[in-house]
Amino acid sequence: MTRDPSSDSRISAEDIRRRKGGVPIVCLTAYTYPVARLLDPHVDLLLVGDSVAMVLHGHATTLGASLEMMIAHGQAVMRGSAKACVVVDMPAGSYEASPAQAVAAAKRIVEETGCQAVKLEGGVDMASQIAAIVAEGIPVMGHIGLQPQSVEKDGGYKIKGRTEDNIAALFSDAEAVEEAGAFAVVIEGTMEPVAAKLTHHISIPTVGIGASAECDGQILVIDDMVGMTVDRVPKFVKEYANLRGAITDAAARYAAEVRSRAFPGPDHVFTAASGKDKT
Ligand code: KIV
Repeated sequence: MTRDPSSDSRISAEDIRRRKGGVPIVCLTAYTYPVARLLDPHVDLLLVGDSVAMVLHGHATTLGASLEMMIAHGQAVMRGSAKACVVVDMPAGSYEASPAQAVAAAKRIVEETGCQAVKLEGGVDMASQIAAIVAEGIPVMGHIGLQPQSVEKDGGYKIKGRTEDNIAALFSDAEAVEEAGAFAVVIEGTMEPVAAKLTHHISIPTVGIGASAECDGQILVIDDMVGMTVDRVPKFVKEYANLRGAITDAAARYAAEVRSRAFPGPDHVFTAASGKDKT
């Protein structure tokens, strides 16, 4: 991709906006320093998603995320990455009340993490929040379709775009997010043909999750993608590794070796003969 040479070495939100219709944008969530370091060379965008509340903190929904939680994980991901565009999710309760509330929270996230952009859920209903944050010079990524922060209001994780009324609402949401100045928009849990049509309908990149291969980019939750999810794995997830199995196997072998005193063996202890004075 072509990058603006005057910018720092990171991919900017503007770089992402220019990828509309081009080579698909590779996005993953990241929440920690070591994982950000591993992912950074391979992705265009790292999202510090509010899914962190479920994935790392064990909450039942993303409503368990707080501004402090998002900032702490945003700082870790910024420390662990050098190239990716880092986007931090605005947690539920930090932006919905008013544009002024949204601007205050977005400024705090950007000032305390140094991230490139924030993301918030909502379409027509959140357009004034998006416009107000963008007016402050902070790039915003939208999030339409299935919105996990609305799971209690919606009565579960329901796929969008099944009825004519809902399809019309999705088009209004996509247009509202685009007009409000978002640089890109996540489309989650939406019928494939609808997600494809939305992608061709708007001028900003769409990033799909449970959406369509025709989206301008794709995102998955990192723990889902590497097989770390211990509960139900959603249909739209492809597991590219099985860390669940690797960790279970490692823990079982370690437990057996501790119990049989096979660990630590001669290679993992310090003796006069080993001559090592460093760990
Ligand atoms: O919080 C998150 O991980 C997200 C992605 C699923 C897009 O919003």
